[in-house]
Amino acid sequence: MAILKIARMGHPVLLKRAEEIPDPTAPEIRRLAADMAETLADAGGAGLAGPQVHASLRIILFQAPPSRGGDTDPRAVAPLTVLINPEIEALGTETEEDWEGCLSLPELMGRVPRARHIRYRGLGPDGAVIAREATGFHARVVQHEFDHLEGILYPRRLADPRAFIFESEIRFWMKQG
Ligand code: NI
Repeated sequence: MAILKIARMGHPVLLKRAEEIPDPTAPEIRRLAADMAETLADAGGAGLAGPQVHASLRIILFQAPPSRGGDTDPRAVAPLTVLINPEIEALGTETEEDWEGCLSLPELMGRVPRARHIRYRGLGPDGAVIAREATGFHARVVQHEFDHLEGILYPRRLADPRAFIFESEIRFWMKQG
């Protein structure tokens, strides 16, 4: 296991469409997933995508702990999950806006609209199919990580470019309720 270097906004790897993984059970993919899990734990984020560790491959890791759920819907919660070659689909047209951060844009955050409910599907590193419905933060983190595979960073999704700030200035926004 190893802690990998995280690419920061401006590095071209973050703008490329990541490639399909032909064999999700290959030992090098298992190793990459383990290294990404260690990197995510070290950095303290909710999710990480292959391109963020300079691996332009369609693999994402994410977790949605109950503390981020905000409600009692089990679809808002997910354990640490490795998802390879994911596909996502919005369920309904409802969107919600909330703050997001990204390990490739340290110390920054922005308000991003996302689909409230989604369905996603992909493979685990054991080759087994993972198919789930997600809502709330769980849906948000999966959409954010999936965007990385398409070469999209969240500033492109901002509803209001003024709501793109340093975390240290969040108090001014919180006062507005
Ligand atoms: Ni990110």
